[in-house]
Amino acid sequence: MMKEYPLAKVFQLIEPGPVVLVATEYKGKANIMTMSWLMPVEFEPALIACIIGPWDYSFTALSKTRECVIAIPTVDLAAKTVDIGNCSGKDTDKFKTFGLTPVPAEKVKAPLIAECLANLECRLVDATLAEKYGLLILKAVKAWHDPKRKERRTIHANGDGTFVVDGRTLDLKKRMVKWPQFI
Ligand SMILES: Cc1cc2nc3c(=O)[nH]c(=O)nc-3n(C[C@H](O)[C@H](O)[C@H](O)COP(=O)(O)O)c2cc1C
Repeated sequence: MMKEYPLAKVFQLIEPGPVVLVATEYKGKANIMTMSWLMPVEFEPALIACIIGPWDYSFTALSKTRECVIAIPTVDLAAKTVDIGNCSGKDTDKFKTFGLTPVPAEKVKAPLIAECLANLECRLVDATLAEKYGLLILKAVKAWHDPKRKERRTIHANGDGTFVVDGRTLDLKKRMVKWPQFI
């Protein structure tokens, strides 16, 4: 039997993932924020839509520099990932506080995060809906991953402080007849 569900919590039913970290560099200072609202928009160029609130210091940094790195943490970094999303670069050096290692990127000033599974160097290519929705379209211009990393399970937000950790992998490659390029 269906029960009414609060509209304000609809996003929790369709929450995308994984939870990521967004690294920026603004006025010589590197910063990180946590972000769970993102989705792929295009394969090539690799476009990613994300929602970043204008109250976030990272929003200012990204708007001004038009560059960032999307770093993908795994479950071993889950607690740090949440803590990074509960303080601001306005008054906290998050790389130092959370013991993360900034690594120079190749195409953007924002740093990669060494401890993450993957890092995407991104340019902000469309902010026309930023004022209305906080929607920013990023283009990944260089991507990195750590193929030797043992822990590879990413985390997915339920939107209420609980998270789903990657679990069993279903191999349905044989059924992907329309998409051989992704196999
Ligand atoms: C699990 C989690 C997910 C979050 N997702 C987003 C998001 O998608 N967009 C956003 O604007 N803020 C999100 N936040 C909040 C920011 O990470 C938070 O406001 C952070 O303090 C901003 O840091 P800054 O001021 O240094 O940029 C999230 C926080 C947590 C803990």
